[in-house]
Amino acid sequence: MKIIGGPASQLLASRTARALGIEPVLSEFNRFPDGELYLRIAEDIENERVTLIQSTPTDSDLVSLLQLIDACEGAKELNVVIPYMGYARQDKKFKPGEPISARAIARCIRADRVFTINIHEKSVLEHFPGPAENLDAAKLVGEYISGLNLENPLLIAPDSGAEGLVKRVSSGLGFDYDHLEKTRLSGDTVVIKTKNLDATGRNVVLVDDMIATGGTMAESIKMLRSQGAADVYIACVHPVLARNAALRLFNAGVKDILGTDTLERAESRLSVAPLIADALKGL
Ligand code: R5P
Repeated sequence: MKIIGGPASQLLASRTARALGIEPVLSEFNRFPDGELYLRIAEDIENERVTLIQSTPTDSDLVSLLQLIDACEGAKELNVVIPYMGYARQDKKFKPGEPISARAIARCIRADRVFTINIHEKSVLEHFPGPAENLDAAKLVGEYISGLNLENPLLIAPDSGAEGLVKRVSSGLGFDYDHLEKTRLSGDTVVIKTKNLDATGRNVVLVDDMIATGGTMAESIKMLRSQGAADVYIACVHPVLARNAALRLFNAGVKDILGTDTLERAESRLSVAPLIADALKGL
């Protein structure tokens, strides 16, 4: 199998190739003078089994993925891994006249098989033209938290939507877990209320699928600290960390931010490469 990493997932593709005991394929990425994207796969992949790995946090990354898929037309088999899929939160029409953006994008991804990782809304998988599967990084996140050796940790989901994730992260590791109640007032303002929770004196790890603006987490951290929590950490699968999210979180008093390399950030402390490698081994 040939592993090709797009511009947003070079490290993750390299780590996945290493986990499979192979060298990643080199590609060139550039721009034309007018700003349009150029890429070239620098190896013959004709009649090969190919796996592309490319997250799509930006529109340019999405274009690169479409270009890579097109450049692989001669491959015998094409698997596409989208570790972080941008627009996945736009999974329904919130107002008349809106597109279902996640569907619009999924429909363009023509491959023998697509893998996502902790996609925000699983129903998006139905919109890919071919088979699509969502991989779950919860176990890896749980093992990483376990390795921090925190005293008396309490894992908390910032809202009921992340309850399933925090439960799976805690599974088999014996962590206590709970969730908060969130009311969203606007795009980046939320109010958090406690559920049945006593975080006093506990080292808390807030767990969510992604941190975007950091609004959800900043409010949660402030609320937990005002209740007397000890250190408050954040663990997420996708460290989007848009705008000044990291600063916001440190201002709110977070001890540390832990994410995976579905997005390559300074906070990407653990790799989902073993998850992807295992899925590819099973093909
Ligand atoms: C929402 O349902 C997600 O699970 C996250 O809680 C949300 O996307 C985080 O967004 P932000 O960091 O902007 O509050």
